[in-house]
Amino acid sequence: MAKLLALVLVMIGVSGTVFLARAQSESTTSAVEARHTGFEGILSALRQIDREAKAEQPDFATMASSNARLIELEAEIPSWFPPGSGPESGAKTTARPEIWTDRQGFVEKATASLAAARGLSTSVRTGNLEAIRDAERTLVKTCQACHHAYEYGNF
Ligand code: HEC
Repeated sequence: MAKLLALVLVMIGVSGTVFLARAQSESTTSAVEARHTGFEGILSALRQIDREAKAEQPDFATMASSNARLIELEAEIPSWFPPGSGPESGAKTTARPEIWTDRQGFVEKATASLAAARGLSTSVRTGNLEAIRDAERTLVKTCQACHHAYEYGNF
């Protein structure tokens, strides 16, 4: 009987550990999923702005609200990469380990991109389409600069 109890205790102990390990990997997976959703949001806001900029009758209010969303999301980028959510987690991610070993460089790229998104909103307010397209190009360069240094994809 004592032996059986001991066995049960061991089993509980083991399943407790398994549960903790699973909780940990679930939080990693959800961080990766959340940032994918976040980046998709950034891309769709940018596309919306671009569509309006090329429309026959651009809707500047739509552009401004998409731009506001873009700024909101860009400001969150560094928080989307908690420690342990890189490729070592086994999650499906194209994030490079340098994001965590060179945090400062990564945050600088995020800050530069946020600044470019704010620059775009300044152009949107002027309503000058040429300035808007220039600001879009400047912004996309900051996306690429970060992807080039900190992401394995080729976007
Ligand atoms: C500071 C760095 C940084 C900046 C700035 C940045 N990205 Fe990314 N982006 C990443 C990283 C890292 C990933 C890979 C995330 C992963 O797979 O875990 C990524 C992934 C993506 C993805 C793929 C999401 C998915 O579903 O897998 C898209 C789309 C994207 N970024 C668009 C953009 C656009 C558009 C901009 C600029 C407006 C931008 N990114 C700016 C670092 C950045």
